[in-house]
Amino acid sequence: MIIPVNLDEKYDVIVENGALDDAEKHLNLNRKVLVLTDDGVPEMYAEKVAKKCETPVVVTLKHGEESKNFDNFKHILSVMLENSFSRKDCVVAVGGGVVGDIGGFAASCYMRGVDFYNVPTTLLSMVDSSIGGKTAIDFMGVKNVVGSFYQPKAVVVDPRVLSTLDDRQFYAGLAESIKMAATSDASLFEFIENADVKRDVKEIIERSILIKKAVVEKDEKEEGLRKVLNFGHTVGHAIESAEQGRLLHGECVATGMLYACSDGVKTRLEYIMTKFGLPVRTEKTAAQLLPYITHDKKASGGKISTVYVDEIGSFKFIDRTAEEILLISEKKK
Ligand code: GLY
Repeated sequence: MIIPVNLDEKYDVIVENGALDDAEKHLNLNRKVLVLTDDGVPEMYAEKVAKKCETPVVVTLKHGEESKNFDNFKHILSVMLENSFSRKDCVVAVGGGVVGDIGGFAASCYMRGVDFYNVPTTLLSMVDSSIGGKTAIDFMGVKNVVGSFYQPKAVVVDPRVLSTLDDRQFYAGLAESIKMAATSDASLFEFIENADVKRDVKEIIERSILIKKAVVEKDEKEEGLRKVLNFGHTVGHAIESAEQGRLLHGECVATGMLYACSDGVKTRLEYIMTKFGLPVRTEKTAAQLLPYITHDKKASGGKISTVYVDEIGSFKFIDRTAEEILLISEKKK
């Protein structure tokens, strides 16, 4: 399936089994190409892309969120400069959200912007982070605080690469699809509830991307609607910070959704999450989570705007204090 994203500059998201083997069909690689990957991604994927490039330069970062830092950003830019990359050359990120975020940001800054392609290899980056142009690094302990909106020229999704992704990562990525279906597509939610998700993953990816595309086309810069993609993130981010890296982002978002929905939705979410081994409880107390929630970037005037799901497939934005968010859910437990 080819999914066009219709922004000022249009681009395609190609979802095709084996697409990585035909990377040159979808990407213009007849130039200098910085292939950015990390050491958590099987080497063969970056190699496959590099082999198709006229002049590849491969940069491999250490895997993990800590790699989204200024030193690595500088390193990527210095490699491009040392190899005399021009305005006409490009960056291809092969990996998950980390290389997509930092690679996209470097591409957006080098010579005021060179072409950027995303080749996501995790389920999370396939359904969410590789599409929509959010790029960033972390700075002074704050996640994604330095970055830009910079859309890729194309995104190539090859679901076959998921065969090397471990189950925990796979289901944490699935949590992002569940998140989008819960707010925006009741039939996709039902499909995931009943699917053999490994067998049906291509359809889940395609339908999730269609949701993301529709949201981003209406609100590229997250002025309103795009905030719907933050469903589960207020408490999710708090859990993620409190857990200090012990839980994956998708796992935290999964639990976070339970703090922002009606009892009926909670029952369905708990069922689906239990089925896929996602956590339905946090071991952190409300008191432990509170400081992280009050620091949430969506907080303003004591109230935090959160996405709330009353019924699967729909959502509303509601303003609550951090205490309300946690006390309400404490009462429900
Ligand atoms: N991952 C949320 C967004 O792209 O807005």
